[in-house]
Amino acid sequence: MSDQLEISGLRRAFYGVEVLRGVDFSVREGSFTGLIGPNGAGKSTLFNVVSGLYPAEAGSVRFAGADITSGKPDMLVRAGLARTFQLARGFPKLTVFQHLMLHGQQQPGDSLFAALTRSSAARQAEERLAERALGIARRLKLGHVIDNPVTALSGGQKKLLEIGRALMSEPRMILLDEPMAGVNPSLVNEIGDHLTAINREGITILLIEHDMALIRRLCDPVIVMANGRVMAEGPFEEIAAREDVQEAYLGRRH
Ligand SMILES: Nc1ncnc2c1ncn2[C@@H]1O[C@H](COP(=O)(O)OP(=O)(O)O)[C@@H](O)[C@H]1O
Ligand SMILES: [Mg+2]
Repeated sequence: MSDQLEISGLRRAFYGVEVLRGVDFSVREGSFTGLIGPNGAGKSTLFNVVSGLYPAEAGSVRFAGADITSGKPDMLVRAGLARTFQLARGFPKLTVFQHLMLHGQQQPGDSLFAALTRSSAARQAEERLAERALGIARRLKLGHVIDNPVTALSGGQKKLLEIGRALMSEPRMILLDEPMAGVNPSLVNEIGDHLTAINREGITILLIEHDMALIRRLCDPVIVMANGRVMAEGPFEEIAAREDVQEAYLGRRH
């Protein structure tokens, strides 16, 4: 397996405060990698910079061998790099099906073009997309709510829809920022199982998660960030046993 995502020397500051202070790490293709660290370590900011939401101030990001540093989010999605947000975003009036369809389009203009021309190629593309949306909804156990408005979903179902939205773009890798946060415990393990299944199909996963039992169950290797840098990397048991890692957590919490 080769490195699919290569981050080197990545820097980003807000109002003069350095949040990413030279982040270096790589994610192996096909792996289920964990990203942990105390609150404020810069994990979400790292995702925001890697996914093109905020430009980097220094350093580089390579994906599948290509330089994607500060690339636009939709360009990165087309390249096969998807992400989820901690809170599902979108248009409140859409149904689950419409929400999935919207994010499966390769180009923003696709559906308008299809509606205007009604070409058979466009119709076929839309049918394929609809089948994909249905398949993804079913596998995430959202089949029975597919025609409900997104706003009517439970918190856990919204998290599943976020994962579904990412899958619609046929990603090679997904960045997940605390996809189980605030979800009731019975659904946490179910989401974990979905992620494992998605990973086994060959999609690389980089997961930010604060629940150490989940990280231990799902991820190998685990990368630890603290103070805007990577401080440790390895199998969970190994990094959890490290004194400097334990101190980084305690130092922030107390
Ligand atoms: N858009 C922003 N503007 C100002 N400060 C930000 C912004 N995004 C993140 N930060 C700051 O960066 C630091 C790291 O935050 P974050 O990346 O969310 O950490 P983590 O996800 O590891 O808890 C925090 O101090 C946060 O306030
Ligand atoms: Mg965060």
